[in-house]
Amino acid sequence: MAWVGTRGLRLFAAEEQLWQANWKLLVEGGLEAYHFRVTHRDTIARLFNDNLSSYQCFGPNFRSILPRAGLLQLQDKPEDEWDIRECSNLLYTIFPSNSLLVQSDHVVWIRNEPLSAGQTRIRVATLVPRESARPDTYWQKNHAFTVKTLTEDFEIAQSIQSGLDSGANTVLNFGRFEGALARFNEQVRQRI
Ligand SMILES: [Fe+2]
Repeated sequence: MAWVGTRGLRLFAAEEQLWQANWKLLVEGGLEAYHFRVTHRDTIARLFNDNLSSYQCFGPNFRSILPRAGLLQLQDKPEDEWDIRECSNLLYTIFPSNSLLVQSDHVVWIRNEPLSAGQTRIRVATLVPRESARPDTYWQKNHAFTVKTLTEDFEIAQSIQSGLDSGANTVLNFGRFEGALARFNEQVRQRI
C-alpha cells in the first residue's frame, strides 16, 4: 500500500450497484485477462495485449499484472527508466472481496459485498492524488470509463450466475488461463 501511495489519495467519486451474481464470480473477473477481447471489445481491449497477464499470491491475496499494448516500446528504453504503472495495470485482490486497480495516475477501489448467494452489492470508487493539476473533468471521464468497463464484467458474471442457477451443469472445471481463479477458490474453501 505504501508503494501504491494510498495515503496520498482522496476519494473522487463512488457509486454502488446491485448485481444478481455470487460475489466470487465478480472477484474472479479480475483474475484473468483472456476475456478482454470479447467482454471489453468496445472499451479497453485495444489498450491491452491479447490474453497476457501474470499473477502472484501473497497468502490469500493476489497481485495481477496486465501489460498494456505499449509494453513492447520499453525495449528501446534503458531498464532504469521503466515504470510498471506506465505500461501495465496492476490489480491487487485483497482477500476476500476487495480489489485495488492501480493505473498510471490513479487507483480504483472495487468492493464486493455479498448480500446472498446470488446477490452482491458493488461499490466502485475512484481514488485520485490529493495533489494533482488534473481538472475534475479528467477524473470524471476516467471514473465513467471505469464504471462502463466494469459493468461489462458484471453483466457477464450475472449471465454466468443465471447459467449456474439453471442447474444444467453439476461440475465446472477451471481452464488453463484460470490458474488464479482456482487458487482463489481454494482459499475460500479452506476458510469455509
Ligand atoms: Fe474485465
